[in-house]
Amino acid sequence: MKNSPVAPRAVRDPPFVRGADVTDADAVSGLCRTLGYNVSPHDAHHRIARIDDSENHLLLVLEDTPGRLDGFILMEEVFALTRPAHARIAALVVTEYKRGTGLGRALVNAGEAWARDRGLFLVRLTSRENRHGAHAFYERMGYRTEKTSKMFEKSL
Ligand SMILES: CC(C)(COP(=O)(O)OP(=O)(O)OC[C@H]1O[C@@H](n2cnc3c(N)ncnc32)[C@H](O)[C@@H]1OP(=O)(O)O)[C@@H](O)C(=O)NCCC(=O)NCCS
Repeated sequence: MKNSPVAPRAVRDPPFVRGADVTDADAVSGLCRTLGYNVSPHDAHHRIARIDDSENHLLLVLEDTPGRLDGFILMEEVFALTRPAHARIAALVVTEYKRGTGLGRALVNAGEAWARDRGLFLVRLTSRENRHGAHAFYERMGYRTEKTSKMFEKSL
């Protein structure tokens, strides 16, 4: 597992946070659906493989019940021209029926530890305007709204 500050697989005290691998594709696909994104198990497999190959990304999964994935966080190191390199929470989700039990906190703590270990001292993220619960969670975790902006895209 690449430079992950989390427990090795042998440590099974829940909540257990570990690096993801392609065998997690089905569960990650299901969690993506609860986040509102339709990601097939095939696509999840392919994307996890690419993430695992990337030096600048870390996908952590959480097992609260051994053998069952209850959440994930995708961390990314961002290089920018206008600000120092920093970490980004690119995705975060906890399975619906276990929300409010400290699992999101465990994932964010593990993601932040990874960032600190890389010498990154700022974490940023974007969150849709209507995700009020997530906003309350991030504020509780010490995050503050920096700005709101519009996102544009174009299909090529
Ligand atoms: C956002 C999310 C990851 C939070 O995970 P969680 O496991 O429910 O959060 P935790 O139980 O670790 O909560 C940590 C703290 O935040 C608070 N908190 C969590 N959700 C909250 C909510 N909806 N409203 C108010 N406070 C909340 C908790 O009360 C707790 O506070 P405490 O320090 O007093 O104990 C989870 O709710 C989720 O997956 N939501 C749907 C997906 C989503 O919106 N993801 C973020 C996309 S940007």
